[in-house]
Amino acid sequence: DVALLLIIILALFVQPTPPAHQHWLQEMSGAAGFFLYFAFGSNLLKERLQLANPSATFYKTGRLKDYKLNFGLWKEHIDNAWHGGVATIESYPGAEVWGVIWTLNNEHLSSLDDQEAVKAGVYSPLEVSVETDNGTVLCRTYQMNNFHACPPSPQYKQVVCLGAEQHGLPVEYKKSLEAVQTNNYSGPSILDQIPTITNLRLNKRGACSL
Ligand SMILES: *[C@@H]1O[C@H](CO)[C@@H](O)[C@H](O)[C@H]1NC(C)=O
Ligand SMILES: *[C@@H]1O[C@H](CO)[C@@H](O)[C@H](O)[C@H]1NC(C)=O
Repeated sequence: DVALLLIIILALFVQPTPPAHQHWLQEMSGAAGFFLYFAFGSNLLKERLQLANPSATFYKTGRLKDYKLNFGLWKEHIDNAWHGGVATIESYPGAEVWGVIWTLNNEHLSSLDDQEAVKAGVYSPLEVSVETDNGTVLCRTYQMNNFHACPPSPQYKQVVCLGAEQHGLPVEYKKSLEAVQTNNYSGPSILDQIPTITNLRLNKRGACSL
């Protein structure tokens, strides 16, 4: 059957369909040995993220559509190193989460996963499409498992707000962060390990003030 033979021959020459158009940065990342990470919580602040992941480099701010930001704890836990709820994202049509897209060397994939306690099951990595002013980028991000809502400590909130300020997130979004209620915890926390904001903390007590 000549027709069948032709089809088979043609099939041998047909190239696999090229992947859907990818963002130029994505295309570079594999070969260059880095990955893109979308941060929306304490990792908005460079000095916090770089504690464990020194290669983190700011790329752009971005918007994740159809998710909302929430603060909470994992499973039955009622405390953690921040002494309050930490940020996570929840699927929520119509909402949006603003954050920072970082590039990290591939060697820091494991340190980032460790910071998010992926092995213990606290957060799960997921891939999300983040809108920027120069196209949509696929990024790694993290979502808490078995989440229950819990207000953040003032210290955690302060780091989130400082990070939002550091990267110029939209004013309205910063206002919504500043409006988050805290649990009024006072005492040691991870905040004490972040050198550059120690002075700010001493000078201005209120969370989110710069
Ligand atoms: C924007 O995207 C184009 C490719 O689409 C790239 O060449 C350019 O460098 C990007 N600009 C910025 C500021 O990221
Ligand atoms: C924290 O303090 C503020 C101001 O004193 C108060 O209005 C709020 O109820 C307190 N929140 C908690 C969880 O104790």
